[in-house]
Amino acid sequence: MTSSPIILCLLFEFFYSTLFNHVVVSSGGQCLSDQQSLLLQFKNTLIFNPTESKSLVRWNQSSDCCAWEGISCEQGRVTGLKLSNESISGGINDNSTLFNLQYLQSLDLSYNFISSTIPSSIVFGNFSNLTSLQLFECDLYGTFPKEMFQVPTLRILDISRNGLLEGSLPEFPPHSDLQIVNIRHTNFKGTLPSSVGNLQQLTHLDLSYCLISGPLPKSIAKFTQLVHLDLSNNQFSDPISSAHLEGLLNLLYIDLHNNSFNGYIPSSLFTLPLLEEIDLSYNQFSGQGPTSLGHLALSYNNISINVSGNGSNIPFLPKLNILLLRSCNLGKFPEIIKNQAELTDLDLSNNQIYGEIPNWIWKIRNCSLQYLNLSHNQLVGIQEPYSLYNIYNLYSLDLSFNQIHGKIPILPPQLYYIDLSSNSFTSSIPSDIGKSLENTLCFSLSMNGLTGSIPESICDATELQVLDLSDNNLYGKIPTPAMSRSIIGVNLRMKNLSGPIPDLFRVDCSLKTLDLNGNLLTKSIPKSLANCTALEDLDLGNNQMLDTFPLSLKNISGLRVLSLRSNKFYGQITCTESVGDWPMIQIVDIASNNFSGELPGKCLTKWHTMMTVTGYRQSQLDHTILDSSRSPLSNSRFLWNISYEDAVSITHKGLEMQMRKIASNGFTYIDFSSNKFHGEIPKELGQLISLHGLNLSNNVLSGQIPSSFGNMRQLESLDLSRNHLSGKIPASLSSLIFLGFLNLSHNQLHGRIPGSQIQLFPADRFQGNQGLYGLLVTLNCPGDAAAPDISQETPKANHSISGNNEIEWNLISAEIGFIVGFGTVIGPLVFWKRWRKWYFDRVEDIAFSILPQILLRKWLSWKMGTRRGVRAGGRRES
Ligand SMILES: *[C@@H]1O[C@H](CO)[C@@H](O)[C@H](O)[C@H]1NC(C)=O
Ligand SMILES: *[C@@H]1O[C@H](CO)[C@@H](O)[C@H](O)[C@H]1NC(C)=O
Ligand SMILES: *[C@@H]1O[C@H](CO)[C@@H](O)[C@H](O)[C@H]1NC(C)=O
Ligand SMILES: *[C@@H]1O[C@H](CO)[C@@H](O)[C@H](O)[C@H]1NC(C)=O
Ligand SMILES: *[C@@H]1O[C@H](CO)[C@@H](O)[C@H](O)[C@H]1NC(C)=O
Ligand SMILES: *[C@@H]1O[C@H](CO)[C@@H](O)[C@H](O)[C@H]1NC(C)=O
Ligand SMILES: *[C@@H]1O[C@H](CO)[C@@H](O)[C@H](O)[C@H]1NC(C)=O
Ligand SMILES: *[C@@H]1O[C@H](CO)[C@@H](O)[C@H](O)[C@H]1NC(C)=O
Ligand SMILES: *[C@@H]1O[C@H](CO)[C@@H](O)[C@H](O)[C@H]1NC(C)=O
Ligand SMILES: *[C@@H]1O[C@H](CO)[C@@H](O)[C@H](O)[C@H]1NC(C)=O
Repeated sequence: MTSSPIILCLLFEFFYSTLFNHVVVSSGGQCLSDQQSLLLQFKNTLIFNPTESKSLVRWNQSSDCCAWEGISCEQGRVTGLKLSNESISGGINDNSTLFNLQYLQSLDLSYNFISSTIPSSIVFGNFSNLTSLQLFECDLYGTFPKEMFQVPTLRILDISRNGLLEGSLPEFPPHSDLQIVNIRHTNFKGTLPSSVGNLQQLTHLDLSYCLISGPLPKSIAKFTQLVHLDLSNNQFSDPISSAHLEGLLNLLYIDLHNNSFNGYIPSSLFTLPLLEEIDLSYNQFSGQGPTSLGHLALSYNNISINVSGNGSNIPFLPKLNILLLRSCNLGKFPEIIKNQAELTDLDLSNNQIYGEIPNWIWKIRNCSLQYLNLSHNQLVGIQEPYSLYNIYNLYSLDLSFNQIHGKIPILPPQLYYIDLSSNSFTSSIPSDIGKSLENTLCFSLSMNGLTGSIPESICDATELQVLDLSDNNLYGKIPTPAMSRSIIGVNLRMKNLSGPIPDLFRVDCSLKTLDLNGNLLTKSIPKSLANCTALEDLDLGNNQMLDTFPLSLKNISGLRVLSLRSNKFYGQITCTESVGDWPMIQIVDIASNNFSGELPGKCLTKWHTMMTVTGYRQSQLDHTILDSSRSPLSNSRFLWNISYEDAVSITHKGLEMQMRKIASNGFTYIDFSSNKFHGEIPKELGQLISLHGLNLSNNVLSGQIPSSFGNMRQLESLDLSRNHLSGKIPASLSSLIFLGFLNLSHNQLHGRIPGSQIQLFPADRFQGNQGLYGLLVTLNCPGDAAAPDISQETPKANHSISGNNEIEWNLISAEIGFIVGFGTVIGPLVFWKRWRKWYFDRVEDIAFSILPQILLRKWLSWKMGTRRGVRAGGRRES
């Protein structure tokens, strides 16, 4: 029997619907008149939207009620009522004529907005033959009546996805007929009573996403019919023993993830005859790992596989498909894998596996491996001799964040996702690499010690969407993959690339991110870059480019980051009606160039993002800065935030840090420093009320500081030093309560420094002016946080006292750049495995809409072409 989960789902679907059909759809007889009038009365009391209703709206006197949609009858009596997704929003209460339909066996009101408590009449009494009650996703609240579980005739009870519905599990009477119990995503609390063992007909038990705690009763061993057991995302605790498992002879699927189970995993779990899919991750299991199974997820436990054995003594070897042992504290490769002939997905990431990658891993029998993730370990090499060509099914290879040295392995051409970043590969990139990347969508070699040039053949990688070669010692010219049709992210941030940027961006360019920061690039910004209308982040900083401001990019309305920092750009920035219209822009860094003329005041008011206050706060930024890991697999946030993500690196007192997700942080910053701008500071700047950092220092600006600056309430950093500014410091600046860095030194300002907050900045931030006074000197007394205030009543210049106890949040010398979040642009590739799970969870629509079409096609063809063959209807979220 195949272990494909799709088959499992189909089976379940089939089972569920046959049972359901059996109960409900059989119809018979001509409607008895009392039944018809009861139904019409019931309809009249219901509140529903007739334009969205499909069945209910058509019930009327003119036809026999047993022929109405949603009704089934036996001998003219209504036995089944199915009104799911009829946009019913009320009208069901204890008085409802519904409860006079005493022959009812099956009631389905799922997918409505009933928004009420469960009528007490439903438990009784009148529905003496009720076998099926389906109320999933009904917005029910209140307490679910325990007695419902005890109705002797009931076989199906599904009240899942009513997040506000409270309840607890009752004592279950003997001889219960319950076959399907689903309370997923409700607010059920308490323990699972031992009497649950009385549910001996149970085939499907789903208690997931509730708040159920305590041990799992051993009586579950009596579930001899059970096929599907999902207890995930609860608070179950204690160990599981083989006594729990004895009778589970029909179990196909068990999901216990995200609980607090502990102790050893009983080996009998892995010898259950039909078990195909198991998820024990996110628990506190410890000890020896298991040995065989269809799909096995043990991630986030403290499991060590017994590596002294070779697996030959273990029964049921050939069934393992998916083995996830991420973050399991493994120190060695589990050799047991050697004999896993059907292994397709292997995740050993985030362990402490050291040494070489054994060459047997490429030879796992039947060449079945498709997904291999060994990232975040302590691997140093790849055992010779080896050939990756044997594993012709492999589509995703992640060896990132190890210390693998030597040559880049020869990669088989079918790989879609290749991450070799953050290792110690030192060779040059093979000149024929393009051949290996024929099908590759995502390729990273960043953070290695690679030398040599970027081979032209990389342009043969026509499918490539993300290319990240950053942080290597490559030199020479930029090849042209950036101009390939499909590419959306290029990161060549390193030191020694030279020559001009090729002017070959095609009319259908789909580039979103281009990072060429920190090289020796010359000449101008290619005019054809204007073809890349999807461009969001452009970082050309720290090169030797000679050009004027890129007016050619004026139509790229999605631009978020523009960095031209430290080049030889020159000329005026003229903002006419049609220029610089970048409503999304968040970071403009053109510092350290030769720009001249007046500041482009008119542009500023077109930069809407900077004029809209967002949720960004400094504390958020601090967190993100700390999060310097950038492997997509190490961060589950990536799993959802797929479309695009990037990182901005900021030089923070000389330290380069990465800030993730500027977009979602809403971080905004303008740096025009170290140019030759003259004239007054445009008062329009004050309209950028959500700006977080502003640097205009080291220009020839004159006139006064606009008092409109007081409107920039989000401002955390302001540098106007080394200009010719005159007049007084506007009092409005004292309302900038987030201001953590201020530098007004070396201007011609005079008068009293306003506001106690500003007066507390260190004296050197005001020095070199004509005459500023009013500074509050803060003395740094050990053990005494409260500093005494000494008012400086005399005008001061070149003040020498410098307070040093300020908490500095120094963004002023920020070098803005960004790193293509490799794997973030195309995060979906990471998901093949997860994607399958989504698929089953009926989130396929979401996944479809976020997956790049090309990837989708690949996936489908892969899926169709290989084992799966069937497109499942998807599991009923039941
Ligand atoms: C009454 O029911 C019949 C049969 O279902 C349907 O064709 C007809 O449209 C209904 N009439 C009204 C007014 O809803
Ligand atoms: C409910 O009906 C609407 C159309 O009225 C449809 O779009 C939606 O998919 C249905 N939902 C379910 C869960 O069947
Ligand atoms: C039930 O009916 C009685 C009498 O018709 C009425 O007073 C009462 O409010 C009704 N209860 C509900 C819950 O509608
Ligand atoms: C139960 O059914 C009987 C007979 O149809 C009816 O008289 C009675 O009101 C029903 N009880 C409830 C609670 O609706
Ligand atoms: C319940 O089912 C039994 C057996 O099928 C039948 O004899 C009885 O009439 C049913 N009662 C009602 C109220 O439908
Ligand atoms: C585990 O469950 C908690 C809530 O009980 C939830 O916050 C957390 O995200 C879950 N973790 C995983 C990995 O599913
Ligand atoms: C993992 O298990 C080992 C022994 O197998 C133990 O020494 C270690 O403390 C455990 N780690 C955690 C985090 O529980
Ligand atoms: C590991 O397996 C070997 C051989 O199968 C066995 O001799 C040894 O006892 C096992 N070690 C542990 C800790 O179970
Ligand atoms: C596995 O180990 C057993 C003894 O522990 C040995 O007899 C057998 O040859 C080994 N098999 C392989 C494939 O190494
Ligand atoms: C855009 O691409 C077309 C065709 O590739 C090219 O002819 C044109 O010059 C490009 N546009 C610009 C503005 O360079």
